[in-house]
Amino acid sequence: MDHHQVRIGVVGLGVMGRNLALNIADRGYGVAGYDIDAVKVDALQSEAGDLAIVSIKKLNQFIEELAVPRTIIILVPAGPAVESVIRDLLLYLGPGDLIVDGGNSHFKDTDLREKALSEKGIYYTGMGISGGEEGARHGPSLMPGGSKKAYRRIQPILEAVSARVDGESCVTYLGEGSAGHYVKMVHNGIEYGLMQLIAETYDFMKRGLGMNDDEMSDMYRKWNEEEVNAYLLEITDHILRQVDDKTGKRLIDVILDEAKQKGTGKWTSQEAMDLQVPIPTIDAAVSMRNMSMFKKERQSARQLIQGAIDSPILDKQDSLKHLKHALYASMVITFAQGFGLLQRASRVHAYGLKLEEVARIWQAGCIVRAGLLEDVRVAYRLHPDLLNLLGDIQLGPAVWSSQDDLSTIVCQAASIGLPTPCLMASLAYLDSYWSTWLPANLIQAQRDYFWSHTYERVDERGVFHTQWE
Ligand code: 6PG
Repeated sequence: MDHHQVRIGVVGLGVMGRNLALNIADRGYGVAGYDIDAVKVDALQSEAGDLAIVSIKKLNQFIEELAVPRTIIILVPAGPAVESVIRDLLLYLGPGDLIVDGGNSHFKDTDLREKALSEKGIYYTGMGISGGEEGARHGPSLMPGGSKKAYRRIQPILEAVSARVDGESCVTYLGEGSAGHYVKMVHNGIEYGLMQLIAETYDFMKRGLGMNDDEMSDMYRKWNEEEVNAYLLEITDHILRQVDDKTGKRLIDVILDEAKQKGTGKWTSQEAMDLQVPIPTIDAAVSMRNMSMFKKERQSARQLIQGAIDSPILDKQDSLKHLKHALYASMVITFAQGFGLLQRASRVHAYGLKLEEVARIWQAGCIVRAGLLEDVRVAYRLHPDLLNLLGDIQLGPAVWSSQDDLSTIVCQAASIGLPTPCLMASLAYLDSYWSTWLPANLIQAQRDYFWSHTYERVDERGVFHTQWE
């Protein structure tokens, strides 16, 4: 292949990297792939067929294949692997070259790397990629930040490879610095929330209503055709029908109830705490991943007490109606928390995010894609500075009309000992957000009582301290 035809390099040829390379080449761009693992290099070459792809085992040869100024997308695990790839690339790259980090790097690392590379005249773009292996191959949602000039250079390629919604590409320039990785981090926080909410509705149907996998699958399929429509519901329907090759049972019933995590949900919670933005549904989802890992402890604690959940004990028809509305309301509340964090972060980190655009590029290709994002998009189109989606004229009343369903489900679940922390956190968030009064006056008084932290009054400006009796 004439090296001038090779437009773009991909470093890291795991399934994501390989699929993205194939996707880029499908759109008519030349690609060079590189990995330290020769098996992965061969895998790309054999999948490439007639596409304009060269897959290379030596880094110096890989660099020679790229048109100058070079554009290289790296798709390796966040952390030390990214560091080591950058270190290796720096032996060959020069001013004007561009590195795009397509992994789930922490946004603070992205800021540091961009700063360090810009001193050498090298562009560094943090770009979130969502959609998993399938998305990378056939159309992901792409979340690039960094230098706008660098974005312009890769814009046609990114627009060509990404998913589409209403004929538009699910990619947009998000903002300076780490804006892209920040938005991807919050995407993943929302992903954690939605996954746990769906898991809680599954538990409610399974243990609370005694429904079998087929019945639950039917329910998710039905809901997915209604206002709760979302990719994660669609795959839950498929998952519940999958048969295990080994046992002939439903696969879901032989999967261990311990869920791992790579950290992006936890980062969202940590960052929200730093910016003092409440995102309790996402926090609870992260905690429940942690709780799931305490399997042995849970088992031995259980031996100390009698009894178990007797199912079915709830009225199925009635509960299912409430459950769907409870899920819808909690999903909107989860997005409200995530977008609320983005709104605050945009100011604190000076990203200048356009939240309408974020909602748009999440409408296809990514894991959190959901029908309700159209309403989110409209909400931010009408009011770009909207602080919370619950304050939107459409979404606010729609969620409020499901408050009763949500509280009914949470009460029913609690009454039989079914844990629903994300549904509960969503309900508490809703009730607090719409409460004009919260008992924080007592918190103020307690702080002043035990450590003279002072308090403010409702009838007079200033700070006060009392010698409490
Ligand atoms: C996506 C996903 C993807 C992945 C993460 C989070 O948008 O395609 O978010 O990035 O799911 O690795 O996974 P954990 O659940 O392991 O944190």
